[in-house]
Amino acid sequence: MPTKLIVAAAVILTLAGAVHLGAQAPAARQLPRGAAAQVAAAGPSDGPRFSAAGMLQRPDDYREWNFVTTGLGMTYGPTQPAAGDPRFFDNVFVNRASYREFLKTGQWPDKTMFVLEIRSSEAKVSIDNGGQTQGSRIIAIEAAVKDVNRFKETGGWGYFDFGGGTELKAEMPALPKSATCYACHQANTAVENTFVQFYPTLFDVARRMGTVKPTYDPNHKVGQP
Ligand code: HEC
Repeated sequence: MPTKLIVAAAVILTLAGAVHLGAQAPAARQLPRGAAAQVAAAGPSDGPRFSAAGMLQRPDDYREWNFVTTGLGMTYGPTQPAAGDPRFFDNVFVNRASYREFLKTGQWPDKTMFVLEIRSSEAKVSIDNGGQTQGSRIIAIEAAVKDVNRFKETGGWGYFDFGGGTELKAEMPALPKSATCYACHQANTAVENTFVQFYPTLFDVARRMGTVKPTYDPNHKVGQP
C-alpha cells in the first residue's frame, strides 16, 4: 500500500534525523561562536586570520601559542598610579611559527601576531600568604600583527583592541594610526615594533643576532626629557 510505505519512509527518515542530531548535539555545543568556529574547524590557529572585510579574528586558543612574558603593574607615563590601586598582570603570547623563526634570526617574519592579555591580580588566594596571583577576570585583550602590505602606512605593524571583561569582541579592524599604540611601539621598542627588552630569553637572542635597534636606549623613560 503506497500510503503505508510513505508513512514508513517518513518514520525512518525522522528517526534517522533524530539519531544524526543526537550525534551532532554535543559537538555543536562545544563549538565556539562566530569567527572562532572557523578556527575550531581548521584546528589550532597560529597567526593572524582576517575576514574578507579586513577584520582581525580574536583567536580563542592564543594560550596554546608561545608564552613570552608576564609583566606586573607596568605603567609608562610620568604619572604613577595611586597607592593601593590594583596592579594588573599582562601576559604576552606570540604565534608559534614566528617564535621559532625569531629564535633563528632575531627578527619577526611577516604575519607575526602577538596577543597581550591583561588580567586582574588577587592576593592571599588559597595557601598564598603574601604574593599576587592572576585572577580569572580579563581586563583587556589587545593584539599586534606584522603584515608589511596590509599595514604599509604604519611601518608594517597594525594594532587591535578586542576590549575586555564580558565585552570581548570576536573581531576588530586595526586601530587608526592616530592611536597611541603606534607611536609608543615605534619609539620605545628594542626590536622592530616589539618590546623585546622585556622578554628576557628573546632579548638574549636579539643581542646575539645583532637585531637590537641602534635607537634603543635602556635609560630612556616615556614622558621624561
Ligand atoms: C606608552 C607606551 C605604550 C603604549 C601607548 C601602548 N603600548 Fe603596547 N606595550 C608597551 C610595553 C612596555 C609592552 C611590553 C609589556 C610587557 O613587557 O609585559 C607592550 C606590549 C604590547 C604587546 C605585546 C607585543 C609587543 O609589541 O611587545 C601588544 C600586542 C601591545 N603592546 C599592544 C598595544 C596596543 C593595541 C596599544 C594601543 C591600544 C598599545 N599596545 C599601546 C607599551 C605601550
